[in-house]
Amino acid sequence: MNMTNNETMHQSLLSSAGGDEGGSFIHLSGITKSFGSLQVLKGIDLDIAKGEVVSIVGPSGAGKTTLLQIMGTLDRADSGSVVINGTDVSRLGQKALARFRNRQIGFVFQFHQLLPEFTALENVMIPALIGGTNRRDARQRAEELLAFMGLSERATHKPAELSGGEKQRVAVARALVNQPAVVMADEPSGSLDSANKDELHRLFFDLRDQMGQTFVIVTHDEELARTTDRTIHLKDGRILPFDNSPVKPFIPTPPCEEGEHIPTMPQRPDTFLA
Ligand SMILES: Nc1ncnc2c1ncn2[C@@H]1O[C@H](COP(=O)(O)OP(=O)(O)OP(=O)(O)O)[C@@H](O)[C@H]1O
Ligand SMILES: [Mg+2]
Repeated sequence: MNMTNNETMHQSLLSSAGGDEGGSFIHLSGITKSFGSLQVLKGIDLDIAKGEVVSIVGPSGAGKTTLLQIMGTLDRADSGSVVINGTDVSRLGQKALARFRNRQIGFVFQFHQLLPEFTALENVMIPALIGGTNRRDARQRAEELLAFMGLSERATHKPAELSGGEKQRVAVARALVNQPAVVMADEPSGSLDSANKDELHRLFFDLRDQMGQTFVIVTHDEELARTTDRTIHLKDGRILPFDNSPVKPFIPTPPCEEGEHIPTMPQRPDTFLA
């Protein structure tokens, strides 16, 4: 069977997204974190289902970034546990943790954090190379993702030669290159104008709908928060009680049987061409 690159990527992302056992995909319990005498997180319990798109909102200084970094294994809690896809990450050593993070989690930051001396293509390839993918496969996957983002023509550009929206789409491609089961984004559209912001948000939902990925998005953007499956309100280091809504499992599009029509990747919104 001849499959297009997009179809191949779609299938591999679907299979890498893992099965939905109906339980929570991310399970946080009793998370506390202090910086000196400042207790930033005061006991966070949170369950996120596979394929959910969850937003985290709250005033500046509420602890949103701290929570996301702990959930994303970039920082450790003082107490409590973080279980992702059945793995208790608090029990992993540094090396195993780095490996787990590289494979399971994609990050999108407020300011893209692309490496300035590398091209868009190289920036997307880097996490794949770090993860042990050979150069040819890493390049192919990076090219497919950049094509999906409407950035094929920009693959050889360095970050300084890209617009803000383009840079952020490269950053999303980089977050996806290892086919992570979860994407964590901290103010991903904070530096974008409204058109680019809308496109980026639509892309998140397209990815979830097509590939069943889980998204955790810290945002100040009320419009984005309203469109997510669930909004977590963080205040004074705690989740406001009315947000503790039950986990609602997301049912991804089932993979196709052999011979069946394979759905293609979502079409890039036209405005990406502008
Ligand atoms: N490494 C650190 N050392 C000391 N204090 C820190 C550190 N990181 C964060 N803080 C403090 O912890 C609190 C929560 O910070 P955090 O970055 O999680 O807030 P936030 O909700 O993401 O805010 P914003 O919306 O402004 O990004 C703040 O008061 C911040 O000053
Ligand atoms: Mg923050």
